Amino acid sequence: MSDLASLEQRGLAELQESADEAALRAWNTKYFGKTGTVSAALKKVGEVPPAERRAYGQEANRVKEALTRAYEEQLAKAKEEKLAQNLAAESLDVTLPGRRVDQGRLHVSTQVLRTIFAIFADLGFQLFRTREVEDDLTNFELLNMPPHHPARDMWDTFHTTTPGVLLRTHTSPGQIHVMRAYCPKPIRAILPGMCYRYEAITTRSEIMFNQVEGLAIGDHVTMADLKGTIVAFARRLFGEDRQVRIRSSYFPFTEPSIEVDMDCIVCGGKGCSLCKRSGWLEIMGAGMVHPTVLRNGGYDPERFTGFAFGMGPERIAMLKYAIDDIRQFWANDLRFLRQF
Ligand code: DAH
Repeated sequence: MSDLASLEQRGLAELQESADEAALRAWNTKYFGKTGTVSAALKKVGEVPPAERRAYGQEANRVKEALTRAYEEQLAKAKEEKLAQNLAAESLDVTLPGRRVDQGRLHVSTQVLRTIFAIFADLGFQLFRTREVEDDLTNFELLNMPPHHPARDMWDTFHTTTPGVLLRTHTSPGQIHVMRAYCPKPIRAILPGMCYRYEAITTRSEIMFNQVEGLAIGDHVTMADLKGTIVAFARRLFGEDRQVRIRSSYFPFTEPSIEVDMDCIVCGGKGCSLCKRSGWLEIMGAGMVHPTVLRNGGYDPERFTGFAFGMGPERIAMLKYAIDDIRQFWANDLRFLRQF
């Protein structure tokens, strides 16, 4: 019994000296672990003479409970102190400015493409996507350029190792795909996407660039519809007082063919460095779909007519934002890209 009394005193005294959580846990192992002092005292019940056993057992349990309670109180106190210490040390200044979240953005070409899509959606044109890897037949022949046709020189071509398979040099072959998909229904569609040309890279020309092709086919589509569509487009993109002029040109897949200029957005036609003193900026090629091309798409040129146009969104972005070097588009220089 006296062993139990001194065990209790020692235990309580050592508990007082255990300053932190780690020391308290060590104390707990020492007293209550498998070979701990209290555990040993409890096991001793069997060795006590029967007459004293009951009293010893009760006292041993009382000591065990007293020490357990004291331990738990001490542990809770140590945890609270630690928390208070931490809070005091790591004070939080709620008036500090927050950390800025890094924000991504759309590439300038994507932004311009989406603006173009929205304008043509308003005018009733659907979006139709076609392949970037084309065959010679669709990129040239069905567009009225048989092999060895001199107009092929207008498009320097990346050929693949498979004969007759190439990277499209323009979005015009998409006209064939969309016509074959919808013939004999009327069509109003734009066909956007990447094009590739085997050319020297300069400030004005890249080997890859986007184009947006337009195609409208019906039984009453005229050059006046083409002109009205282009004027509506130019005014929505560049401002309500834009003037548009058309010049005669040549493309094998349109007859007649035109090129479209818009009065210079910088000088309004007086002449400046952007328009090279001419007062005009070229914005697209266009024309009435050639009867041969209509027929290749499945449409009877005696019944149907159509107009088509093709423009370069990077070129348009260069005009809209006064970008003087087309190579900036794919250089991935964040100082450039972050401006849009
Ligand atoms: N495909 C032509 C080019 O890449 C642009 C073009 C001109 C498209 C006239 C047309 C068009 O649809 O009618 O230069």
